This record gives sequence, structure tokens and C-alpha cells, in this order.
Amino acid sequence: MTADADVLGMVSDRLGQPDADPRSWWFGTARDEQRLPPLGDDWRILYFQGGRGSGKTMAGAAGLAQIIIEDEEPGGQYGIVAPTYRDAWTVCVEGESGILRALGTTAGEVKNNTSKSVEYAYRSYGEIGLRSGHTIYVDSADDGALRVQGKNLRAVWGDELGLWTRWQTAWDESIRYAVRKGVSKIIVTGTPKVSRPARALIRRLIRGGEPGVIVRRLRTIDNIRNLSESFYTSVIGMARGTRLERQELEGELLDDIEGALWSRDLVDAAQCGWIGEEGGPPFLTRTYIGVDPSDGLEDSDEQAYTVVSRGQVDDPHIYVTESWGGQASPVKFAKMVIRRAVELHATLVIEKNHGGEWLRATFTEVMRDLREHGEIPPGMTPPVELVQASKAKRTRAEPVAALYDRGIVRHCQRRVRYQITDPATGEQTWHADTERFTELEDQMCSYTGALRERSPDRLDSLVWACHFFLDLSHRHAGSPGKREYALRAELEAEYGDVEARPRDDHRRLVQGGEYDRSEGDWSEDGFAPQDDQASTPAQDKARANVHPWR
Ligand SMILES: Nc1ncnc2c1ncn2[C@@H]1O[C@H](COP(=O)(O)OP(=O)(O)OP(=O)(O)O)[C@@H](O)[C@H]1O
Ligand SMILES: [Mg+2]
Repeated sequence: MTADADVLGMVSDRLGQPDADPRSWWFGTARDEQRLPPLGDDWRILYFQGGRGSGKTMAGAAGLAQIIIEDEEPGGQYGIVAPTYRDAWTVCVEGESGILRALGTTAGEVKNNTSKSVEYAYRSYGEIGLRSGHTIYVDSADDGALRVQGKNLRAVWGDELGLWTRWQTAWDESIRYAVRKGVSKIIVTGTPKVSRPARALIRRLIRGGEPGVIVRRLRTIDNIRNLSESFYTSVIGMARGTRLERQELEGELLDDIEGALWSRDLVDAAQCGWIGEEGGPPFLTRTYIGVDPSDGLEDSDEQAYTVVSRGQVDDPHIYVTESWGGQASPVKFAKMVIRRAVELHATLVIEKNHGGEWLRATFTEVMRDLREHGEIPPGMTPPVELVQASKAKRTRAEPVAALYDRGIVRHCQRRVRYQITDPATGEQTWHADTERFTELEDQMCSYTGALRERSPDRLDSLVWACHFFLDLSHRHAGSPGKREYALRAELEAEYGDVEARPRDDHRRLVQGGEYDRSEGDWSEDGFAPQDDQASTPAQDKARANVHPWR
């Protein structure tokens, strides 16, 4: 604790108003690595690189708040940028580690106009006005942080940098140029993500590709006293024993994981649009939900499921549309998965020996319960396929990775649209953020199947969901295997150049015989049901292959 902080802390304690100066609480509680270096020093970018729950967001919010509070020249413009606009507002502004808290106020106080520090915070404008005369613009990185572009900012805080989708636009074109007044500092926070494109930016920051960068490492374990037990067990549980442990708990950038089953390029190439939207499948047909329940044997009760569907008949792709992982009791989890299967008309795929008989018993019991309560309509009980895991985990996952290699599996990204009003002109503009399957993709890009490496839960559920698609040919007619149609070469060997024949001739050939042209063109009436009644087998002597029933 610095001497300044001591004095501030004593003053606010004595006044009995811990929020008299919001910095005092933070100076009293922040760990050394969460603090800002002296603002007068010659740094441009501060990167709080940390594990999950290590106090990154809090450090970013408190850092920006400190800069704003210490800025005595009114009229300052500041920025907050998060992966999506929803994150920006719910996490970075109103969240428990957000800027309002760091400024010593709450969303409620701002709404009731009783906040001492903040005059207004308008979500639809993306703007926060401070009583000191400064303004904070709130923006989304997935949208390229376009609203901070061209502004004259004194500082920006960017949260969860690793998740930024359009990071080139957001960083290189918007933030870097916009931060050019006053102290001119950029604070960024986040866990580096192995599977996401912004790893290139993170690499640049931590390997000296950008001037004036200070990197502070934050570890989850060091913030443990401020974390709820369930957060800690679920984060630790998800990562423990997997290669993601170093990323999720230590905040390390897992750059090149040798022998990982999926490469990051492969996963990037698998991205496509959402169902019915541009670049996505128009609709989906057969759906499987791969389920990885907790068997109570691992140290976590982490559960996961993944939804994979086939595209329309002539579409050779399969599509991942949902991935869920988290903690839930076995019954709660079974309910969630079964409800989802009913909604999606899906088949559940569960590993037979995973947890043994009790698992089947739980699912049967829960299905009965849901049916009795009318949650499963009659005849809608989702089918359950139990599959036998006879091979090692890596061996099971390999054919699924091969499906990605062949470009068959696609991950449907969801686009979330939102509208922002320009407070000055009243003009409304539409913006869009992208949602990807971050956790699942991280697990894919880090799993190698090495001895004693635990295979992550979401990945397991993906492997099960793809199980029945492994048998599909995913190929065009004409490939080896059982076929229903003759190949062109075979037809030509028999009949000569097929294309060169007149159309009717071609049709006759394909249908395997002559047809009578004497009555002129095809008549649809010829297929009417009364024809069948009019010509019963007894009357129709000409049809030698039909015998009357005796
Ligand atoms: N120095 C601190 N003193 C007291 N509480 C803290 C401190 N640092 C962080 N916290 C609290 O710890 C919790 C987690 O912090 P924070 O949200 O900043 O973590 P994070 O690393 O951003 O997590 P996530 O990975 O979920 O984004 C919050 O409740 C926050 O208020
Ligand atoms: Mg955070």
C-alpha cells in the first residue's frame, strides 16, 4: 500500500464514508500487480494478462477510474471497449467489477439521479457522463469499435482482448489512433485465448511488437479469497488436468501446442453464418446432442453437451449450433438436456460405460417425470443412443478431427444485432456482434491426448454428437461404395454419348425402357387414382405380371 493510499484510507474511514473517494477502497485492497504504474511514466499500453477470475476486469475498471478521477482538465473523452456491446454494458459498466463501482457509485444511484460522480449512463447511446465534465464512450470490439474511431480520447480500457473478433479494425484503426490526448494510455485486460484470432494481437503485445507495453500477470489462485466457491470449483474443475490449465488459471498464451488434434486455422476455417442467415445453412435436418455427464469420479462435477445437425439433403456439411458446459446436479443436467432434445427433435448420444447403470436410470427417471408433468408431449420422448467407448479418448476424437480436416463440420456463429442512437444527431445505427463457441474451440485446439491429460468435457460431448455422422459418406455420387445410380462412364460404355442423345431418348434410357409416344405428350391424368380402379388386374389381361389374389 502506498503512503497516499494510507492517507486516503484513513480519511475515508474516519468520515465513515468508504466511498468518499472511490480510489481509497481500491488502493486498500488491490494486489500490487493490479495497480497502475505511475501515470507520469512513459508507458502507453498496460496489459493485465490473467487467468479466469484473477481480478483483471476489476483492475481495468479501477485503473481507468483512477485516470479519470485524477484528470482535472474538464471535457475529457474516454473509452471502454469489450468483445460485444452486451459485455461492455453488463460487465464493464454495470457489472460487479465495472466502471460504475470503480467510480464509487451504482446503476441504481445513477438512475435515481443520486450518484455523486455520474450524471447519466445511457445504454442506447453508449455514453456515460460524469459530473466532473468527462465523458466515457462504450463500444463493442466485434463491431470494430467504430464509435470511438475519430474521437480524441485520453484513455481507453479494453476488456477480454482475447475474445475480440474484429480486432484489426478495433485496435489498429479505432483505438490506437483515437487515444491521442492528455495522458494517452490504453489499459487492456483479459485471458489470452488459444483458439481465437485475437491471439495475434496478444502475441504482439507480449512479444514487443507494440511500443511502450507493460504486461502484468494475474493468477486465479491469488484472487481466491474474492471468488465464490462455485466459480472456483467450476473454473478449476473445467481446466484441471487439461492443457488449458495454464491458460485458464495462469493466463498464459498457449501458443503452439504440439500434437493438438485441431489446429487453430482449422477451427477458424470451420466458422459459418447462423441458420437461415447469410453464409449459414438454410435449415437443418437430423440432430444429435452429444452428452458428457459427470460420473462423480472426477474431481469436478462439470457437465457438457453439444448439438450437431445435418444440413439439407444435398448439403454435405454438419453444423455445430450449441455447446454448453458447467456445473449442475445430475438430475438438473438430465432435465436440461432432455428438454433441449424435445425442442430440437434430437437424439441423445451418451457413452454407455460413462457412469454405468445409474446414468441410464437417471435419464429414464427424469424422462418419466417430465412426461408426467406434460413437459414431454405424447410421442415426443427423445430417442437415446448409448454408445460403447471401447477406444482411447484420442482414438475416438481423431475421426472427428478428420471430419474438420475435410471441411465437413461447420460452427454456426450467431450474429447479435443492436441499435445505437447518436446523442447529438438522434441518428440510429445498427451494429452486430459475433458469438463463437470459445470454450469448446479452446478445448479442441489444446487437446493432444497425451498420457494423463484429461480430455475436456465439451470436447467429449462434441465427439459423441458427431458419432453417427462418422458413418455418413459426406461425398458426392460417384465415389466408391454402395451406389444407387450408374456413373456417367458406365452409361456411356453401354449407350454411347449420353448428352448427345435427344431428350426423350435420354429419358427413356434412364428409365430403363421404351415408352409409348403414340398418345402424344405426358398426361398427368394418366396417373390419376381412378385409373387403378378402372383397370383391376382381372380386367387387365395385358398385364401379365399381375395375378388376381385368391
Ligand atoms: N483486489 C481485489 N480486492 C477485492 N476484490 C477483488 C479484487 N480483485 C478482484 N476482486 C473481486 O474478484 C472477483 C473477480 O474479479 P474480476 O471480475 O475482476 O475477475 P476477472 O479476472 O475479470 O474474471 P473473469 O475471468 O470472470 O472475467 C470480483 O468479484 C471482484 O470484485
Ligand atoms: Mg472479467
